[in-house]
Amino acid sequence: MRTFLLILLLSCLAVPVAEAKCAFPAIFNFGDSNSDTGGFWAAFPAQPGPFGMTYFKAPAGRASDGRLVIDFLASALGLPFLSPYLKSIGSNFRHGANFATLASTVLLPNTSLFVTGISPFSLGIQLNQMKDLRTQSIRAASTRNEQLPPSSVFSEALYTFDIGQNDFTSQLALLGIAGVKQFLLQVASQIAWSIKEIYETVGGRTFMVFNLAPIGCYPSFLSQLPHNSSDLDVYGCITSYNNAVADYNDLLNDTLQYVRSSMPAATIVFVDTHSVKLELFRNPRSHGLLHGIRACCGSGGGAYNFDTRVLCGNSKVIDGKTVTATACGNPENYVSWDGIHATEAANKRVAWSVLSGAYFYPRFPLSQLCDLQPIG
Ligand SMILES: *[C@@H]1O[C@H](CO)[C@@H](O)[C@H](O)[C@H]1NC(C)=O
Ligand SMILES: *[C@@H]1O[C@H](CO)[C@@H](O)[C@H](O)[C@H]1NC(C)=O
Ligand SMILES: *[C@@H]1O[C@H](CO)[C@@H](O)[C@H](O)[C@H]1NC(C)=O
Repeated sequence: MRTFLLILLLSCLAVPVAEAKCAFPAIFNFGDSNSDTGGFWAAFPAQPGPFGMTYFKAPAGRASDGRLVIDFLASALGLPFLSPYLKSIGSNFRHGANFATLASTVLLPNTSLFVTGISPFSLGIQLNQMKDLRTQSIRAASTRNEQLPPSSVFSEALYTFDIGQNDFTSQLALLGIAGVKQFLLQVASQIAWSIKEIYETVGGRTFMVFNLAPIGCYPSFLSQLPHNSSDLDVYGCITSYNNAVADYNDLLNDTLQYVRSSMPAATIVFVDTHSVKLELFRNPRSHGLLHGIRACCGSGGGAYNFDTRVLCGNSKVIDGKTVTATACGNPENYVSWDGIHATEAANKRVAWSVLSGAYFYPRFPLSQLCDLQPIG
């Protein structure tokens, strides 16, 4: 008997440090390419070589050389990377699901833009997918399904939104800033309405909404959108587009502020990743990086290393010559991966800033709610 107790005691001592605690057993994410962990390329397979090169060593469904902010957030909360809802192979939703797909919009997309690469999985569809996942989880409750979360997870989870960039950019060339501004209130309202819907029908209580990045600093838009040198600020970013994004972000912040009172039991956090990304583009060297407005994976060289005709990982014959958009050898020195999306290096710095709590509005004590795990 005494031996047995001793063994029991020893085996207890041998257990490693108690499991990290976190108030959130799962994350459900709605978004676009900035947070897509493989949904789009599961639905439409074809991701070129250099994607994923830094961390996954192969294409991993992410529009980056490595991990995204949502990956770092999941890791910090002690959760696995989020499985894309659309991925039928190897997915597990016990700790959440990712409904984001590359090129998703908040509003119903203009279907004539599908040909130029807008995703059919807009926010309303992502919301329906989440509701269906919940229905399936409730139905499966008695069957011990290992892939689905317990239904209690839907009220306890963290809901994240990182979407809206494509509403802003997909028709920018066609409509101009003034044209796009006409439906931005609708975009912000639709995000707020989606939160209300999750609050009322699913019982979600904690929401994080990421604001839009300074697209006027993206190599792709610097190459494509009409501007002249007097439109550029001292950092080489297009002032008018960045101002328009900043206006939208204020509108989003105000819209969330406005709806908070109608959801007294909810915590709705506006996450100002825009400020962090703008700082990285402007002063990459202050943050251990070298290049702000130049793409790592692209073609054409020059200040932006971006050519719309040949995107990262592709080849094309132009003027009788084969042009290939290859990756730079040192993505860890870049903010922009492919002219549109951020590198893992940039995403990691954004994640550090977010996890510090300094960019939450209003203040949100994430580090008290969870034992935050170090992200490497
Ligand atoms: C949809 O896009 C097409 C082509 O870009 C454009 O001509 C049309 O006006 C757009 N429709 C709406 C409702 O925005
Ligand atoms: C540059 O563009 C702005 C508006 O975008 C215009 O007001 C200005 O006249 C242009 N300057 C030149 C030199 O073309
Ligand atoms: C968001 O709005 C609040 C007021 O509701 C304000 O205090 C805060 O500074 C705003 N945050 C940003 C990043 O604009």
